[in-house]
Amino acid sequence: MYETIQTPFNYGGLTLKNRIIFAPTTFGLSDEDYFEKIRRIAAGGCAMIIVGDVPVGKSHFGKSLFDKKGFAFYQKVIGIAHDNDCKVCAQLHQSDSNIKAMLKYVPGVLTKRISMQELRPLLNNEVAPYITNMPHKKVKEITSAFGTAAVLAKKAGFDMIQIHGDRMCGSFSSSIYNHRTDEYGGTAENRARFAVEAVSAVREKLPDMPIDYKLAVRQENPHYGNAGVIEDELKVFVPMLEKAGVTSFHVTLANHSDLENTIPPKNHPYFGEPGCFLKFCDEVRQYTNLPICGVGGLTDPDFVEKQLADGRIQCAAMSRQLLADPDWVNKLKNGHADQIHRCVRCNKKCLGGLMQHQGTHCIYEK
Ligand SMILES: Cc1cc2nc3c(=O)[nH]c(=O)nc-3n(C[C@H](O)[C@H](O)[C@H](O)COP(=O)(O)O)c2cc1C
Repeated sequence: MYETIQTPFNYGGLTLKNRIIFAPTTFGLSDEDYFEKIRRIAAGGCAMIIVGDVPVGKSHFGKSLFDKKGFAFYQKVIGIAHDNDCKVCAQLHQSDSNIKAMLKYVPGVLTKRISMQELRPLLNNEVAPYITNMPHKKVKEITSAFGTAAVLAKKAGFDMIQIHGDRMCGSFSSSIYNHRTDEYGGTAENRARFAVEAVSAVREKLPDMPIDYKLAVRQENPHYGNAGVIEDELKVFVPMLEKAGVTSFHVTLANHSDLENTIPPKNHPYFGEPGCFLKFCDEVRQYTNLPICGVGGLTDPDFVEKQLADGRIQCAAMSRQLLADPDWVNKLKNGHADQIHRCVRCNKKCLGGLMQHQGTHCIYEK
C-alpha cells in the first residue's frame, strides 16, 4: 500500500527518502515553540521541510541569515530536522512591500481602525509603483543578494534552495504590477528577467546546489491571483527558469489577492477540491521534464498515491495536513492510514491563528 509515496526520489539532485514535503509555512511562534513544531513534523516521517520566507538580506521582520542570531536560529532548525532524517530547504524571498509606503498605515493598524484583512489590499496597491519605479541599481543588488543568501544558507546546512516565485519575483513577473519600460518590463521575457537573474545568482555561486522554484501561476478565467505568471506565459517562463539553473518546480496559484485563494478552505468557490492546483502542474509539465511538486488540498493518502503513481507529480507538498497530523507519513508506513487526523481545510487556527497574531496552530491541537 502507498508504495509510490514511500519510494525514495531524486528531486532535482537531492535524494528524498519519500515523496512528501512540508510546504513552506510561516508560524509566527516563539523560537522554542517553532523548534518543537519542526521537530514534530520532521519526526513524523516527511522527507523534507521547506522553511518559509527566509529573507535575502537583513530583516526587521523575520529571522535573517545575514545576522548572527538569525544564522544560529536556522542552524538549530536544520539540526533538529537532520537529527530526524529529514532534509531542509530554504525558501529565499524578497518582500515586495514598500516599507516607506507602509508607514502611513501604522497608526491605523495600531489604533485598530485598519484590520489585518483591510491592510492587505492597501499594501497590494503599493506594489505596482514600487516595482515599476525601483531604480535599476537596486534591482541588480536584490537579484545578486539571492546568491549571497544561498551561500549563507548552504553554510548553515540547508540541503536545497527554493526561490520564492511569488513576492518580488512574482510581482516583477506580473503585467498587473510591473509597468516598467526597461529590460525588466514589457514582454514576458523581460518580466521573467528578475526571477532568472535571482536563479542565476544562486547557480553561479553554488554550481551543484539543487534549486527549486515556487512557480506562482495566475489564472485569468475566472481571475485568481495577481502576481506571478499567467497560464499562457508558462511557455516563456518555464524554459527560461530551467536554463538559468532551476532543477525542480513547486507549482501553485499566484498570490497578492485574498490569502484564502492560495490557502483555500474546503468551501472555496473554485479551489475547494482535493489537489486544487494540480491543473497548473499539468500545464507546467508541457514545457519541462524536471520534477514537479504539487501542493494544495493534498490530504487523502489514496488520492496522493494516485497522483504520484500516475506520474502527474513527482512529490506532494502539504502545509495544513502536516499541521493537522505531522505523523501522516509514519501512520501510512505502519499501516494506520485510518488513524490520520485529516485536515478539514477550515483555516480556523492555521491561517486564522497567523492573521490574529496567535501563531499557526490547528483545531486538532490539544
Ligand atoms: C499558516 C500558513 C502559512 C503559510 N506560509 C507560507 C510561506 O511562508 N511561504 C509560502 O510560500 N507559502 C506559505 N503558505 C502556503 C502553503 O505553502 C501552501 O501552498 C498552501 O497552504 C496550500 O497547501 P495546503 O492545502 O497543503 O495547506 C502558508 C500556508 C499556511 C496555512
